[in-house]
Amino acid sequence: MKIIMLGAPGAGKGTQAKRIAETYGIPHISTGDIFRANIKAGTELGQKAKAYMDAGQLVPDELTVGLLMDRVAKEDCVNGYVLDGFPRTIHQAECLDEALEGHVDCAMNVDVPDGVIVERMGGRRACLTCGATYHLAYIPPKVAGKCDVCGADLVLRDDDKPETVLKRLSVYHEQTQPLIEYYEKQGVLKTVDGTRPMNEVFEEIKTLLG
Ligand code: AP5
Repeated sequence: MKIIMLGAPGAGKGTQAKRIAETYGIPHISTGDIFRANIKAGTELGQKAKAYMDAGQLVPDELTVGLLMDRVAKEDCVNGYVLDGFPRTIHQAECLDEALEGHVDCAMNVDVPDGVIVERMGGRRACLTCGATYHLAYIPPKVAGKCDVCGADLVLRDDDKPETVLKRLSVYHEQTQPLIEYYEKQGVLKTVDGTRPMNEVFEEIKTLLG
C-alpha cells in the first residue's frame, strides 16, 4: 500500500504515519527526518537544507526529489510505504506519479485549523537522535527533557519557534494545500479530522484505509 500524508505543519502527520507504518508493516519515510539526520551528521545536503528549514521555507525540489526517489526505490519499499512530508508541491507530486507510472493508493489529509497548529508546535519537543516526538501537554516524556526511547535530550526544533511556524503555515497554504485538489481529482483523497485525540484519529485512519 502506497500512502502519502497531507496536512499543515504540526497537523500530526508524523504521529499518525508512524502508527500506520507499524500497523501495516511498511516503512515510514519522512523527508523532514532525512534532512534533520543530514544536518546532525553535518553533510553537505544537511548544510544546504538547514538554511531553508530554519527560514520556514521549502527545501528546493532539486535537493528533495532525487533523494526521495532513491529512497522509495530501496528493497524495503517493495510492498509500499507511508510518505510523511512528500510531496509538498505539485511538481513533487507529478514526479512521484511519473516514478510510479500511476498514482498512490491513498492521500490521507490530516485536517487541523491554523489556530490549533500554533498551540501544538509550541508544546512539541523532539528527539534529534532517534526522531521520537512528544508534546508537553498531550504526550509528555516520562522524565522531563529526556527521550523515553533513547535517553537523549529533547529540544524545541529551530523551526518550531512561533515566527517560523507562521511562515511555514503560509508556505503550506500557498504551495502544499493545492495538493488536496490534485489528489481529489485522482480519487484517492481521504480526509480525517486531526483535532481529535491521537488514538481517535488513528482509529478513523484505519477505517478509511479499509
Ligand atoms: P517536516 O519535518 O516534514 O515538518 P512538517 O510538515 O512541518 O511537519 P511536522 O513534523 O512539523 O509536523 P507533523 O504534521 O508531522 O506533526 P507531529 O506528528 O509531529 O519538514 C520540516 C522542514 O523540512 C520543512 O519546513 C521544509 O523546510 C523541509 N522539507 C521536508 N520535506 C520537504 C519536501 N518534500 N520539500 C521541500 N522541503 C521539505 O505533531 C505535532 C505535535 O502535535 C507533536 O507534539 C504531537 O505530539 C502533537 N500531536 C499530534 N497529533 C495530535 C493530536 N491528535 N492531538 C494533540 N496533539 C497532537
